[in-house]
Amino acid sequence: QDDLIVLGIETSCDDTAAAIVRGNGEILSQVVSSQADLLAQYGGVAPKMAEEAHLQVIDKVVQEALDKAKLTETNLSAVAVTIGPGLGLCLRVGVRKAREIAGSCNLPIIGVHHMEAHALVARLTERELQFPFVALLISGGHNLLILARDLGQYVQLGTTIDDAVGEAYDKTAKWLGLDLRRSGGPAIEELAREGDAKSVKFSTPMKQHKDCNFSYAGLKTQVRLAIESKNIDLWSAILAINFYPPNFPMLCSNTTIPLSSASSEDRRIRADIAASFQRVAVLHLEERCERAIEWALKIEPSVKHLVVSGGVASNQYVRSRLDQVVKKNSLQLVCPPPCLCTDNGVMVAWTGIENFCMGRFDPPPPADEPEDIV
Ligand code: KG4
Ligand code: ZN
Repeated sequence: QDDLIVLGIETSCDDTAAAIVRGNGEILSQVVSSQADLLAQYGGVAPKMAEEAHLQVIDKVVQEALDKAKLTETNLSAVAVTIGPGLGLCLRVGVRKAREIAGSCNLPIIGVHHMEAHALVARLTERELQFPFVALLISGGHNLLILARDLGQYVQLGTTIDDAVGEAYDKTAKWLGLDLRRSGGPAIEELAREGDAKSVKFSTPMKQHKDCNFSYAGLKTQVRLAIESKNIDLWSAILAINFYPPNFPMLCSNTTIPLSSASSEDRRIRADIAASFQRVAVLHLEERCERAIEWALKIEPSVKHLVVSGGVASNQYVRSRLDQVVKKNSLQLVCPPPCLCTDNGVMVAWTGIENFCMGRFDPPPPADEPEDIV
């Protein structure tokens, strides 16, 4: 296993990422190209636009990963690629590239589930982490609580019934006029440090549902109403029609004065909303994790760890609150470093390695397969 060298490719949403990882877990290179600037300009992910952005950089990103590792394609043992869930058009860009390399170098190919990769990367960063463990996976598109009993054996304890927590962070950031050239989560985390988390009364979602599912749509509405009710200079409606690219009309509503132009009083109000939102958003995670641990221990009494991964897990407040929850239950928290919590190629390469070692891979695709097969 130590001699394996696996390339991982990730293009499921708005980041184009590639990495090369050795079978022993050594990260030889890691490259992420973000579309954040584009998202900030157009107010969200449009699949066609994201596909084009991936197409523009995919070759460069993979080449850079090889160069940084001082390797060529011929040194690889296998190629791992995210096959879902995600935006179909975007996934195809990564899959096509993976098949191209695997075909030309006669390499096995491993299709990787994006959320499984978020969970398993914790086994790369924490080598002591054995199955079974509980994982809370929190990203922009999904919230999941799973009991990982073994590789490929996952019991779903809870999922989101509407919006994921990352989506709630992103929308709150947009409505508060934060700088979206990086994603909304880090911007809210930063602004929340200035605010009073008890100042705006938001109710915790799904209190009456004694399960492990999540809901953030209601909290989003509460935030929006709170912002509207503050009726300061926050709410000047500018409705702009942008065209990107030509013949791709997109209605882009940009309704909040940027934080950078806000008065100090206005800034304080926004910080209070950000802090209050974050407190309740995370309280919902805490409550669900507490119950999930209880459920998981009934199925697998030997569970010792809670893994928290996915983009939102890079948030320090989230980490410290969940650390309290696991301590109360005498478990240990395992959080990959922030750059491995947000979408990356390392988690895909590593999940590829874990599966490859169990004999789970596809044979090399034909070198001259037609373009439209994926
Ligand atoms: O896992 P990820 O990179 O992509 C998806 O699979 O969706 O997660 C992206 C999400 C975004 O919603 C982003 O705002 C959120 O993770 N995020 C954060 C932080 N960093 C990224 N949310 C809260 N605090 C952060 N520091
Ligand atoms: Zn993700």
